[in-house]
Amino acid sequence: MQYFAMKILEAILKRLNIPIELWDKATGYSLSGRGTYHFTFNHFRPSVRARGLNIHKDSGWITILRSLEPGLEIFRKQEWIPILPKEDNFIVNFGCAMEILTRDTDIPVAAVAHRVTEQKERNLSDRFSYALFVDSSLDKELCEGLYRYHPTDGLLLEANFEEFLDNIVHKTYEKDTQGLY
Ligand SMILES: [Fe+2]
Repeated sequence: MQYFAMKILEAILKRLNIPIELWDKATGYSLSGRGTYHFTFNHFRPSVRARGLNIHKDSGWITILRSLEPGLEIFRKQEWIPILPKEDNFIVNFGCAMEILTRDTDIPVAAVAHRVTEQKERNLSDRFSYALFVDSSLDKELCEGLYRYHPTDGLLLEANFEEFLDNIVHKTYEKDTQGLY
């Protein structure tokens, strides 16, 4: 999964106008296997009367998600759109790090805000998902933080990654908050 994610990240970078020699530093060394990779399993039960997951954006570069039950929704063009799972597909989300890096470029990449709705009784089935998250390195000697790329100024330090991560993860999982920045 990690190798798969790194290949997808590389394919995305090829479509952006960021010099290739900056790619690994720009992505917090996640492109060369030195980033932070974590894998989660999720279980949403219809018997639990609660939202599935708060509105949030994923913190890092990309997320590779697998789920076959409905419940995931993305916010696009001012409306919530359900993502209907397909048997033979993974879902790929862009995260905040990608959005920050590309903000000043001619191909800005949006981190999609998303949520998981409550599993209503009518759904009956439990919802399962698993996901691999690709984030920058947390080793401060290797990686200073999150960068923004400027076409003339190059990589500009934008945020302390550890603080950014703590903040957005906290807001994603606490009750009645939103994991946005
Ligand atoms: Fe997410």
